[in-house]
Amino acid sequence: MRLSQCHNFHDFRELARRRLPGPIFNYIDGAADDEVTYRRNTAAFEACDLVPNVLRGVNDIDLSVTVMGQKLALPVYCSPTALQRLFHHQGERAVAAAAGKYGTMFGVSSLGTVSLEEARRISGAPQVYQFYFHKDRGLNREMMARARQAGVEVMMLTVDSITGGNRERDKRTGFAIPFKLNLAGITQFAVKPAWALNYLTHESFRLPQLDSHVDMGGGVMSISRYFTEMLDPSMTWDDVAEMVGHWGGPFCLKGIMSVEDARRAIEVGCSGIVLSNHGGRQLDGSRSAFDQLAEIVDAVGDRIDVMMDGGVQRGTHVLKALSLGAKAVGLGRYYLFPLAAAGQAGVERALELMRVEIERAMKLMGCTSIDQLTRKNLRFR
Ligand SMILES: Cc1cc2nc3c(=O)[nH]c(=O)nc-3n(C[C@H](O)[C@H](O)[C@H](O)COP(=O)(O)O)c2cc1C
Repeated sequence: MRLSQCHNFHDFRELARRRLPGPIFNYIDGAADDEVTYRRNTAAFEACDLVPNVLRGVNDIDLSVTVMGQKLALPVYCSPTALQRLFHHQGERAVAAAAGKYGTMFGVSSLGTVSLEEARRISGAPQVYQFYFHKDRGLNREMMARARQAGVEVMMLTVDSITGGNRERDKRTGFAIPFKLNLAGITQFAVKPAWALNYLTHESFRLPQLDSHVDMGGGVMSISRYFTEMLDPSMTWDDVAEMVGHWGGPFCLKGIMSVEDARRAIEVGCSGIVLSNHGGRQLDGSRSAFDQLAEIVDAVGDRIDVMMDGGVQRGTHVLKALSLGAKAVGLGRYYLFPLAAAGQAGVERALELMRVEIERAMKLMGCTSIDQLTRKNLRFR
């Protein structure tokens, strides 16, 4: 199977599955506990039908949106994800370049394997820096200063990961950073020698957002210890308010799900919220962002930019979320499997397929710009 034979999410997932060692594929593909939320994220879109209008003159379609003051050529963006160099040696470079080419925002994770400065140089499109709240307040301030210096536009604080999710697939394979594979896991690496050769012949694995503070690459600090020892579970809204003030620009909370929290995000001065359950990787049984979207948009949509992510695999999924009132929609595994399958070329192909799908669906819906998508176009079963 080649890249040119990939026509949708499922094809990319299959190509990634063939290329990656099992523990790495399952790290991307897996979620928490029984993975109920993970499955629900995509299923939620299927419980909602589109009702098109016709004969409206749809020659020219404008797919651009403005979110948190950032103009995006597409209504989708690449949500921040960790450890991309494990999936393909180009890592975040590939995603930054592809997102830049398509004029859309992308997020560099605290657990990213390319520095936020280098990513900034690669992409001309708006850049998000995603971070977690550390016990070391100096480190939090330093990260924001570094992001400001690099020219990052949007700060994104992930608030649904106050502790790590129960990823049972990773336990079974022994996936961890640094690698602590069990015998089954080692065997799965051994049967993918091409990946191993590629991994070993390119630059070594690093976590440049954190390596001046923790020596993860050298094996001193594992990712699970990062979550348990460095992140601060006592974080409160007061801490967020302080950080928002300190940043002084677009600030967004990722992982908000309740109306109450959405209102507090406005009170502390945030410019955006992302409804998200972290792709089902944190709290299993949590509602899907799409199911929760209308309630949040109705409560706060006129005062803060509401985005969502989780389970998005098709242009029509994006259209449904936008019709409910989302300002933009985040992609996770949708671009990670193409990255794993073929690096930058894979992410570009995935974004192109998404662009074409959204444009085609807009035409079939009788809409020429994103603001014409409304709830009149939706029916829930
Ligand atoms: C492999 C992987 C790593 C991720 N790493 C991060 C991260 O470092 N920070 C973060 O805020 N979200 C992270 N996420 C969550 C994504 O940003 C996004 O919320 C989620 O993938 C959306 O669900 P989807 O994959 O079904 O599109 C990660 C997701 C995956 C699949």
